[in-house]
Amino acid sequence: MPNNQKQYLWWQDGIIYQIYPRSFQDTNGDGIGDLRGIINRLDHLKWLGIKAVWISPIYPSPMADFGYDISDYTGIWPVFGNMADFDELLQEVHKAGMKLILDLVPNHSSDEHPWFLESRSSRDNPKRDWYIWKDAKPDGSPPNNWLSVFGGSAWEWDEKTKQYYYHAFLVKQPDLNWRNPEVEKAMHDIMRFWLDKGVDGFRVDAMWHMVKDAQWRDNPRNPEYKDYMATYEQLLPVYSTDQPEMHDIVARMRQVLDQYDERLMIAEIYLPVHKLVAYYGTHQKEAHLPFNFMLISLPWDSRLIAAGIDEYEGALPTGDWPNWVIGNHDQPRITSRVGQGQAGIAAMLLLTLRGTPTIYYGDEIGMRDVPIPPEEVRDPQGFNMPGKNLSRDPERTPMQWDDSTNAGFTKGEPWLRIDRSYVRRNVQAQRGDNHSPLVLFKKLITLRQQEQSLCTGAYRPVYSDHQMIAYIRQAEGQPAFLIVLNLTHRPCYFTPPIHFTGVIVIDTLPEQEQVSVKDKIELFGDEGMVVKLDHWESVSPTSK
Ligand code: GLC
Repeated sequence: MPNNQKQYLWWQDGIIYQIYPRSFQDTNGDGIGDLRGIINRLDHLKWLGIKAVWISPIYPSPMADFGYDISDYTGIWPVFGNMADFDELLQEVHKAGMKLILDLVPNHSSDEHPWFLESRSSRDNPKRDWYIWKDAKPDGSPPNNWLSVFGGSAWEWDEKTKQYYYHAFLVKQPDLNWRNPEVEKAMHDIMRFWLDKGVDGFRVDAMWHMVKDAQWRDNPRNPEYKDYMATYEQLLPVYSTDQPEMHDIVARMRQVLDQYDERLMIAEIYLPVHKLVAYYGTHQKEAHLPFNFMLISLPWDSRLIAAGIDEYEGALPTGDWPNWVIGNHDQPRITSRVGQGQAGIAAMLLLTLRGTPTIYYGDEIGMRDVPIPPEEVRDPQGFNMPGKNLSRDPERTPMQWDDSTNAGFTKGEPWLRIDRSYVRRNVQAQRGDNHSPLVLFKKLITLRQQEQSLCTGAYRPVYSDHQMIAYIRQAEGQPAFLIVLNLTHRPCYFTPPIHFTGVIVIDTLPEQEQVSVKDKIELFGDEGMVVKLDHWESVSPTSK
């Protein structure tokens, strides 16, 4: 890189890849993925061009919420391996020039965590106030109307000590009391434990839930609620989430990270853009990357998405760095949301927008949500709210590596069934197929790494209508790239307010690659392209 160019940090110009460890690679035949499995598959990530691996929780847990219910924050769940395996994983990730990001779950622990066992043992236990305990109302009902994300009341009655405790998620996931400084100190110590080992950062779970209204006021009704929605959405969580006190807490977590060099804090936050960007903090004092879930939450509509990108770019505080996500372990997979053809467009968006992309394992081969029969449902969100199709199992099925039995994932019985299409939809088969999702991802990542403009260059909206979105990416003194995306299955016609000449360098329909284009472009349905521009200029009003 020439000296006069701004240097970017690894989490700004690199790509993050999320691994759901249960489902990535099993090495001991128990049907559940493990740490050794991740070590064995690091080559895939290296080949793909990934910079950082984020692994969902690997800590000891009763697995009521598959590891998001932690009973020991500084250990390893034996089914995943042991601390020696973890140390080796960290070493191998670093040896491969990559970074390792752990999931940190500070909002709640498992009800089997020793802290909670103490807390619930008596009202005067020193750890009583580490969790949120409240008296019943005079009629015996819960202290307020707050609902659990996973269905039902968020309050659980404890018969022994005659108080309710609060759980934003499962009964087995009591919320920690972040207004108690001892809790904060304990969590900082946990962060330091992993940072001292050399872990490169955290994805902080459920950050917007961490502090609750000091007066415990009832949440208001949601006038937009419909029967098919999760029961949690009956209320607007204005008092149970996103409280102003949260920002000082995040800033103090950031201070812990800043005592180390170049460590990263990603924050899981589902909030509208104007509230989300507040979690960057004033002068970059809070999270480095509050996850931007816009491409997951918005309907797949070119006008809404174009407006959303502009809103996000416009709302970003100066000096803060954007990021984009199209899938994770809580959301239907992109291929199932928008279809196989449009999934290529989504990949192109993800990898050509300005900001750090996070890829969910398996999306690079176009894995689909797998229908799981009711008797095989494992996810508590699925069985707590049956009939609403809210189970997250379909997007958590085992990775499809090759066409051998169980897709090369396990020699045993997989913990969740595998998509039968694995015989052709797998990493091995797609690596040699120029028309596959995997090769599209690989081409996009490679180009992004080669071209400063695509990696860190400015974003400039060019055109959008009811079918398409077009924008230019350009870094100072570098060639410009025009990205043109058809978000529908029907052809569309791009006659933009610019004159340009260029060459298509990547296309979701590879036959179009290397074709020269000038001033206007016709696109097939589901077609998206990256055009390297030789020249472009705005159409001046007088030339029309
Ligand atoms: C986050 C996780 C989700 C989990 C929940 C409770 O939203 O991503 O998987 O169920 O927190 O910990």
